[in-house]
Amino acid sequence: MDLFRIQGPVKLTGTVKVNGSKNASLPIIAATLLAPGKSIIKGTPRLSDIEVCCQLLESLGCKITKGDQGELNIDSANIDNPVGDYEIVRKMRASIAILGPLLARCRKAKVSMPGGCAIGDRPVDIHIRGLRKLGAQIHLENGYIVAEAPDGLTANSIFLGGPFGSTVLGTANIMMAATLAKGKTIIESAACEPEVTDLANCLNKMGAKITGIGSPRLVIEGVEQLNPVEYQIIPDRIEAGTFMVAAAITSGELTLENCKVNDMMAVVDVLRNIGVSVESKGDAAVVAGNGQLKTADLTTQPYPGFPTDLQAQFMALLSMSKGNSIITEKIFPDRFMHVAELNRMAANLRKEGPTVIVAGVDKLIAAPVMASDLRASAALVIAALAAEGTTIINRVYHIDRGYEKIEDRLNPLGANIIREKT
Ligand code: EPZ
Repeated sequence: MDLFRIQGPVKLTGTVKVNGSKNASLPIIAATLLAPGKSIIKGTPRLSDIEVCCQLLESLGCKITKGDQGELNIDSANIDNPVGDYEIVRKMRASIAILGPLLARCRKAKVSMPGGCAIGDRPVDIHIRGLRKLGAQIHLENGYIVAEAPDGLTANSIFLGGPFGSTVLGTANIMMAATLAKGKTIIESAACEPEVTDLANCLNKMGAKITGIGSPRLVIEGVEQLNPVEYQIIPDRIEAGTFMVAAAITSGELTLENCKVNDMMAVVDVLRNIGVSVESKGDAAVVAGNGQLKTADLTTQPYPGFPTDLQAQFMALLSMSKGNSIITEKIFPDRFMHVAELNRMAANLRKEGPTVIVAGVDKLIAAPVMASDLRASAALVIAALAAEGTTIINRVYHIDRGYEKIEDRLNPLGANIIREKT
């Protein structure tokens, strides 16, 4: 397992290109199952999660090659094994996104329950409820979701809200399945994340008839078939937000290319309110910190609210604000694996249920820490950039799941990150 040795404090300056969105890529790769033939998905990041998703599709019968620009050539003509095997699914929860398209294409699907992860138990009850509303017979068998629709799926009006609001991959699954269902499906309380919008736009390019895109009410007019597609993935707003925080915490200045600030209004709002300058320049953003961070009171919510995937990174940033900040996690109430690790770096964080009181400190101090989940690990990298001394981050594979060679992106900007094999 690799570890990072990170020397701080540093100041980041320069220009970095934001990669394509991991969370848009995964459901869009799954959507190619809906259209027999050769699709080309461009702009997917080179991440272990994308690799696992491709392995999963190949296990179903797809043929996948990588083009010289990194594009994915996916041939889904033959799906001869509609089974999402536990050995692959357990590596990545988002594998659940094959359930809807597989069921719609093959009229049957068997997908391993994804299981939990460091941020929560990750239930899929809303996915199952939605597919049953489309006429699927679904039962659980030895840890697998077994779904059948021998006569095909039938449109319905479906409420997809749950105790924590909308569900991103739940919306993706039901929307994908509904594209081939007979009749007009309405999804109420759909997730509005830009990644869901990107999937809907991709499906429409494949011949689907989806309206209400970007709103909590999606209307899907079922069609006979979908066609293979060539599609460019949107930029990764979470990676962009992570780089923005890195600029702010190091009092540096970064230009982020391929950055859609309009998809990040809640994030930019918090940054500006705490004294970080963010300027949108076409498809780039210039972010500068000034060393004097004010406090914030932020709560994670479904889009367009503040994204849960940037909660940990902002906690690292706010740990150096002048005064007390409050962070409340409303999407994954247990998503606080980073709290204890940041406290090891001399942050002053106190967890009260789904809320953390962040008492600002003058400086963070390097320490050996443990990566746990994807975004918590990014928060540790960010803290290490500002901390005094050499921070060791163990289990770096968590970071590689969501950030392509982050050391190769940050070191040219002034970071000092060494990856070591252990
Ligand atoms: C997506 O996960 C993202 N992953 C997550 O990003 C992100 O944190 C999450 O959406 C919320 O924005 C991908 O897109 C691959 P949800 P998803 O279903 O769809 C509850 C990252 O770091 N829920 O929107 O699995 C659930 O427990 C990852 O890149 C149910 O109760 O999340 C949670 O509390 C981490 N029943 C809330 O809804 C269900 O059937 C939102 O989860 C489904 C979800």
